[in-house]
Amino acid sequence: MKRLRERFGRPLRLALIGGGPASWIGRMHQTAAELDGYWRVVAGVFSSDPARSREAGTELGFDPARSYGEVRELLDKEKAHKDGIDAVAIMTPNDTHYPYAVAALDAGLDVVCDKPVTHDFAQACDLVVRTRKEERLFAIAHGYSAYPMTRYVRELVRDGVLGELRLVQVEYIQSGLATKLENAPRNNRLRWLLDPRRSGLALVMSAIGCHAQHLACFAAGRNATRLCADVRALLPDREVIDYVSALFELEGGARGTFTVTQAAAGGENDIRLRVYGEKGMVDWSHRSASYLRLQIQGEPVRVIGRGDPFLSSEIIAAGRVPRGHPEGLREAFANIYAEVAQERMARALGEATPDLPYPTIEEGAHTMAFTEACLASQTTGAWVDIARTPPT
Ligand SMILES: NC(=O)c1ccc[n+]([C@@H]2O[C@H](COP(=O)([O-])OP(=O)(O)OC[C@H]3O[C@@H](n4cnc5c(N)ncnc54)[C@H](O)[C@@H]3O)[C@@H](O)[C@H]2O)c1
Repeated sequence: MKRLRERFGRPLRLALIGGGPASWIGRMHQTAAELDGYWRVVAGVFSSDPARSREAGTELGFDPARSYGEVRELLDKEKAHKDGIDAVAIMTPNDTHYPYAVAALDAGLDVVCDKPVTHDFAQACDLVVRTRKEERLFAIAHGYSAYPMTRYVRELVRDGVLGELRLVQVEYIQSGLATKLENAPRNNRLRWLLDPRRSGLALVMSAIGCHAQHLACFAAGRNATRLCADVRALLPDREVIDYVSALFELEGGARGTFTVTQAAAGGENDIRLRVYGEKGMVDWSHRSASYLRLQIQGEPVRVIGRGDPFLSSEIIAAGRVPRGHPEGLREAFANIYAEVAQERMARALGEATPDLPYPTIEEGAHTMAFTEACLASQTTGAWVDIARTPPT
């Protein structure tokens, strides 16, 4: 039987919203989407300035006729195009994610959106409702939960290899705000990033905390229910939040610890996950993303690598090159794009839709609820419940 992509008959067509020439995450989305042949990136809006957007499209090698000046123009013209887009990927400053996602869903398109998915929990719940009502797909670019080895952690927990879950420890440490960037000349990026109305409820949560929370809950295969948080700026006289540490409880009662900061001088970029159950533990770090340390109590430590032949076909398929050759965030992003495409193609063909692990808008809503709970806990100095996404 022909593979899904062949049965569908063509690659899906994607437009970028954001991701101009200077944005590294723009190239990450663009190249990851195309990596497996499921998508062609054919159009975009690359700047809030219409003239600059058109120029940027040409600079990036896009068809000038499909390098649009603004999002409304993109949606209207692509709708009228004989080979119009199937989806958009949104990677603009954070305050624009929600309105652009609404506009894309209303236009009948699937959405891959960068994080934080919205400004707050209410907006994220609204996107959940719209996505379901329009029977669309909505993925969030949480790349860390799309690595073969973090997917394997989830499998180990799900299959009971670690025994009953006891503790999840997640930390995401960066050095990007270790100096007083507020005193540096403001470029376009710093202008929106350092303005909490644009970057979100808590800067470190918008930037990296959301990834850490998502990874912890993804690996555990369950949401968090309550938390108690310390939310602050580590640098003196800083107004934006650069540090959050929290104790949390997961559905079923397992405990969690969470530490994220961008103010760790020398910290560069690392996200680490440890999961402990009644029988043993696993330890994964982004610095060595293709490997996982598994220690079952009383047995020798095992270092399991991406591509090890005993892994399940789903985990093996999440890697692309033979063991010993590095893979990274681009391939993780590509897993998200490939899965969204597989689900869209299967739905279009009327075939059974596979249960794929890409991060969904429901998970995005939980992340926003977690962030709001951290802020509420800081205000009250107490444990607080994390809001549940209303069923629709
Ligand atoms: N998932 C990840 O790992 C990851 C990593 C980095 C950034 N991000 C997210 O990507 C987004 C962008 O971050 P960045 O660091 O690239 O920011 P940036 O300011 O460097 O780039 C933003 C890009 O969007 C364009 N843009 C701005 N307003 C626009 C508009 N109204 N319409 C179209 N294009 C517009 C700009 O021209 C620029 O090219 C943020 O939401 C950020 O949280 C995600």
